[in-house]
Amino acid sequence: MESVNPAPVPVSHQDVKAKVEARKWFYTDVVKEHFFNPKNIFKTDEEAVEYEKEANGVGQVGSPACGDAMKIWIKVDENSDIIRELKWQTFGCASAIASTSMLSVMVTENGGMSTDQALELKPKDIVNRLVDLPSRKFHCSVLGDKALRAAINDYFKRTGQTDKIKIEGARIIDDDTKTTDKDIEEAVLEGAHDFEAVQKKLKVGISNKAIIPEVEDLIRFYKEKYFG
Ligand code: FES
Repeated sequence: MESVNPAPVPVSHQDVKAKVEARKWFYTDVVKEHFFNPKNIFKTDEEAVEYEKEANGVGQVGSPACGDAMKIWIKVDENSDIIRELKWQTFGCASAIASTSMLSVMVTENGGMSTDQALELKPKDIVNRLVDLPSRKFHCSVLGDKALRAAINDYFKRTGQTDKIKIEGARIIDDDTKTTDKDIEEAVLEGAHDFEAVQKKLKVGISNKAIIPEVEDLIRFYKEKYFG
């Protein structure tokens, strides 16, 4: 029977765009290495319980975006405020595991970072060391960052450096929708990087237009904080 070759399908701009988008789903080799061989992670609860007796900073957070939890323990040299060790455990996903593994390396390599240096770290710095992370997974890298900040605050509390403690609390920005600064933070982390995108997600500032400048300021602030 005579075979008939199908007519070539023209490659449209949409096809090319879809292929580029699909590539963003892949994890880099560095992410895979840290996911399959996470550094400084506790393998058992018993190890964590033992370690907690000696750690001088412990922080735990959950992510409102996905409901996952992260706990970080640090051992800080109290003479120099240098973080010598950082251990962690999480219920988070592959991206959270890879990001926190990389965070633990960055904080403790070359003798360790001071607590002040560690507080300067941005999730974007972790993502850069991982080479990349799919944008929808960016918030997973924030989990370790937040738990580390909580652990450092705990260290400051234990060592009487309470003036250095920074607590971020939720504040209502739009009374009509009860939108808080935390909601705006989460929206930015989930990829809404301008006012239109945040408004679409949160319906913020629709009837109460006076708060729009404050919302725009917060979007700028969180974009700088997490994406640099
Ligand atoms: S940590 Fe929740 S989706 Fe990655």
